[in-house]
Amino acid sequence: MNYSQEWLFCVACSFLVSVVPISHASVSVIPAPVRMELQNGTFLLTPDTKIIVDAQTTELGGQLKEMLSPATGYSLGVVDASDLSNNAIYLKLDSALKDLGEEGYRLAVTEKNVTLKATGKAGIFYGMQTLRQLLPTEIFKQVPVECIDWRIRCVTIEDMPRFQWRGMHLDVCRHFMPKEFVKKYIDLMAIHKMNIFHWHLTEDQGWRIEIKKYPKLTEVGAWREETVIGRNSGKYDGKRHGGFYTQDDVREIVEYARQRYVTVVPEIEMPGHSLAALAAYPEFSCTGGPFKVRTKWGVEPDVYCAGNDKTIEFLQDILTEVLALFPSEFIHIGGDECPKKRWETCPKCQARIKAEGLKDEHELQSWFIRQMDTFLAERGRRLVGWDEILEGGLAQGAAVMSWRGEAGGIAAAQAGHDVIMASNAYTYFDYCQAADLKEEPLSIGHFLPLEKVYSFNPVPAVLTAEQAKHILGAQGQLWTEYMPSSEHVEYMAYPRACALAEVVWTPLEDKDYKKFQTRLETHTQRLENLGVNFRK
Ligand code: ACM
Ligand code: ZN
Repeated sequence: MNYSQEWLFCVACSFLVSVVPISHASVSVIPAPVRMELQNGTFLLTPDTKIIVDAQTTELGGQLKEMLSPATGYSLGVVDASDLSNNAIYLKLDSALKDLGEEGYRLAVTEKNVTLKATGKAGIFYGMQTLRQLLPTEIFKQVPVECIDWRIRCVTIEDMPRFQWRGMHLDVCRHFMPKEFVKKYIDLMAIHKMNIFHWHLTEDQGWRIEIKKYPKLTEVGAWREETVIGRNSGKYDGKRHGGFYTQDDVREIVEYARQRYVTVVPEIEMPGHSLAALAAYPEFSCTGGPFKVRTKWGVEPDVYCAGNDKTIEFLQDILTEVLALFPSEFIHIGGDECPKKRWETCPKCQARIKAEGLKDEHELQSWFIRQMDTFLAERGRRLVGWDEILEGGLAQGAAVMSWRGEAGGIAAAQAGHDVIMASNAYTYFDYCQAADLKEEPLSIGHFLPLEKVYSFNPVPAVLTAEQAKHILGAQGQLWTEYMPSSEHVEYMAYPRACALAEVVWTPLEDKDYKKFQTRLETHTQRLENLGVNFRK
């Protein structure tokens, strides 16, 4: 593009500043919108710009005001009115736009005003995210910025997501992440129009959610004595590690997410990956323990006893408290990587196999998952689990998260189950970002570059159109064995999450990696302004 340069004298800093007139600049929105038509001219945001709302968009108007305030220093008026006037941003629900779905929106920027309409509030929220990205990238700074004309290029955008499940997962068990970071993580998701936060709350190495009926889960299970150094080197750091979220913390985060149109899907792992809980309550294991919260990585052989009725009751008590905290339709019960070694020699587990007429320990796992499935379904919720839950049959309402490649997702969709694609080859953001592992901080290994994430198509080619309807979407995984800090999580997540955002939002036929890279150059300035420790 050929930009003509202009020089402006800035009153605030007394320098001549060179600017590319925004009326000529291209716009750079991630994820790329479905339809966009650029026009000549700009809309100038001023301290007098009004945000015009009605009864249904009042909360959104307040959010837009807050969004624009830190960098501009403006405290825009939010007014309830129905008339169009100049120098205003209109937020309005409009059922005539129902073809764009509950999350789609129509945004029209003219020199006089900005009109943002949608069928649902989520659509208005996503239109606000786009509007924010149409402003200079400094709008993402959290302190007042001088010498900026807050201009928006005239444009008409019609937009809607390709998938309903646009997820990011976070393991807060291998390394505990503070509440404030969890909020930042959700904020970043919202900026990228992602809408499912999969919160991995329980593990061998730590239990992170307060459960009133079983206080030892956090008193004991939230803390490990020390942590292995590197990749199970046999050497330990000697430092106690842990932390947990109180139920008040959880409510605060769920509400914070709700305001950003993000649903929090909690994961309570079972029957495997449960040593932290068993350290607190060893009576729910096969051997009776005692156990310590695991201090190294990998898969733990001690798991919940599937033959003990009290174990089922214990877990359903926990789920009862979880359901009261999380309004999400889906509740994740893990289900992955459960060794059957203890079950093979446990009298209770063997008695259950016999009593239920099960073939083996694999069918015992399936029986166990079905207990939870029925429990959740009776309470109006749906179970989701990693693809191992497919083995041995699954109730129809349950959904499958396909992590071991695409095979589980294909089998599940063919069997009529809803599927979330979380294929390790494309969406495991704990994988290394360089082919040569030595160039990067210690990670679990493998190689997942940005371009490969971008190339992901969550709908496997072998599915029929009918089966493909079961693919709800995709999500990125952040397993934190090798991410001791929130800064490191950001480094692994961004910019790969930007690529994933486009995978799950933008129509397949509009995806173009070269154009994405160009837009990402601008977008990384936004990440910089937000203080995100992304990989450069
Ligand atoms: C997994 O990575 N074990 C789901
Ligand atoms: Zn047992």
